[in-house]
Amino acid sequence: MTETPKPRYASWTTGKLPLPELREMKRRGEKIVMVTAYDAPSGRLADAAGIDVVLVGDSSGMVVHGRESTVAVTLDEILFMTQWVSRGAKRPLVVADMPFGSYEVSDEQAVANAMRLVKEGGADAVKLERGGTTVARAGAIVAAGVPVMGHVGLTPQTATVLGGFKAQGRTAERARLLLEEASALESAGCFAVVLEAVPATVARTITQALGVPTIGIGAGGDCDGQVLVWHDMLGYYEGHAPRFVKRYADLGEAITEALGRYAEDVRSGAFPEEQHTYAMPPEELAAFEAAKKD
Ligand code: KIV
Repeated sequence: MTETPKPRYASWTTGKLPLPELREMKRRGEKIVMVTAYDAPSGRLADAAGIDVVLVGDSSGMVVHGRESTVAVTLDEILFMTQWVSRGAKRPLVVADMPFGSYEVSDEQAVANAMRLVKEGGADAVKLERGGTTVARAGAIVAAGVPVMGHVGLTPQTATVLGGFKAQGRTAERARLLLEEASALESAGCFAVVLEAVPATVARTITQALGVPTIGIGAGGDCDGQVLVWHDMLGYYEGHAPRFVKRYADLGEAITEALGRYAEDVRSGAFPEEQHTYAMPPEELAAFEAAKKD
């Protein structure tokens, strides 16, 4: 049996990992571990495994809800999932992904929706994609008192503009732009920046340039932390996982095998057994049988 890792950090009364600790971890050279989760049991399991940050990602649109992209994910979907995850994940910081269309219109829209995720969803922080106009939105949300995580590189919400789910920052010009975007997000007050699908060398430069932690996904080992999508890393997703995913389990196979045995047992009568059924006192049974005859 694997032992549950002990919390490595000082925490406040609720046991929550204090947000400033992430910056301290970067300073100490300790890697930050982040994973997505979409419901209470996965939040609880991530907590039990000693994960630092749990992201209620809009990747849910694809891996949970079977869509082709994250574009159609709604604020209400993220809100419900954030409520579920935050009931399960106590120590990890819970970051709610702001879905496409929930922060682009104005600072007011961005702040109001971020507030909902914190007040109604129980999120500790929110995440926004892209640089550009997102920088001002991130600044407005931070100014309103909600911590913000940035996200640059491959930004799935605007994959159409990027020409698909492709690595970003592979030319000197695009790499320079990424560095500028990440630095602008830091200046706007973001407490961390996700770097998705960018060359490891570019991610290293950005990581060295930023005071706040970078969290990589397909961005090499020099980022201050790593994030993976729950279903991808646990083999619980039918689609094609990106090349940067390392599979740590094959839950899809385990579940199919278990369901197959269940179906076999039901069809053969091997399930349910005595232990799975309820008895009744013999005198009550006798009375019931007698009543039937009347
Ligand atoms: O939605 C998501 O899961 C994400 C991660 C890939 C960083 O944004």
